[in-house]
Amino acid sequence: MPRFEDKLVIISGGASGMGALTAEHVVNEGGQVVTLDINEEMGKSVADKIGKSCEFFKADVTNPESWNSLEEHLGDRFNKITSVINAAGISEPATIEDETFDHWNRTHAINGTSVFLGCQFAVKSMKDRSGSIVNFASSLATRPQPFVIAYNYSKAGVLILTRTVALHCAQMGYKIRCNAVQPGAINTPMMQRYVEGAENPEQQLADFAASHPMNRVGEPEEVVRAVLFLASEDSSFTTGDSISVDGGVIAI
Ligand SMILES: NC(=O)c1ccc[n+]([C@@H]2O[C@H](COP(=O)([O-])OP(=O)(O)OC[C@H]3O[C@@H](n4cnc5c(N)ncnc54)[C@H](O)[C@@H]3O)[C@@H](O)[C@H]2O)c1
Repeated sequence: MPRFEDKLVIISGGASGMGALTAEHVVNEGGQVVTLDINEEMGKSVADKIGKSCEFFKADVTNPESWNSLEEHLGDRFNKITSVINAAGISEPATIEDETFDHWNRTHAINGTSVFLGCQFAVKSMKDRSGSIVNFASSLATRPQPFVIAYNYSKAGVLILTRTVALHCAQMGYKIRCNAVQPGAINTPMMQRYVEGAENPEQQLADFAASHPMNRVGEPEEVVRAVLFLASEDSSFTTGDSISVDGGVIAI
């Protein structure tokens, strides 16, 4: 039986990169998906391409009202959700010396608050049944780089949030597991923006590769395989954990 048959999966950040690819794989494995994204044009286009088992819902996931509207929009389907995958995120460079107050707060709203709201939505939906939450952290949550201070801090927050939600659900007897993935540099639009924006794009890509012991960047499929494991019953005894998909950065 396909892993996601009879499953309903909510994916934030589903208009691009790893969120979009996860949606495609869940549908290929028999599931229904609702993708959330602030980018309506791309969100609709990706969902149309995936087919009728994928629906796009426009949402700014930093805003609690978006999650309330989603709940209302889903109606009876709110009580059928089986996984919530929080993949929406941004990464923009700033060191301790050039970070601004506004950018710091914006990064935490998108990378941190949205994950808190997504977890709250997931627990409310799934606590009387069972389910799985998967949050996108980063290798930078535990192995930070100085050029992305707000990003590092926000992703470290995602890890502790993940463990806290996992422990709460276990303590309450809810059959909800909560885990994270920690990707290294992965070849998605997020990484491509860094490469294309660099003075020497080839050198930038080589530098990203060299920061991983395996001396290459990762491909989105390599992360999505771990996400699908955590989102499905394949990981039935795993909670409060994170899987590194980072070419060995965790071992440094
Ligand atoms: N690509 C990497 O190298 C890398 C490495 C480690 C972790 N990650 C994390 O993986 C996740 C997916 O990243 P990606 O590389 O696929 O990036 P991406 O830029 O391709 O996709 C991110 C998506 O999030 C959406 N988004 C941003 N703000 C939003 C908001 N307020 N509301 C709703 N949607 C919003 C964007 O519109 C976009 O579609 C992110 O959380 C990212 O931080 C990426």
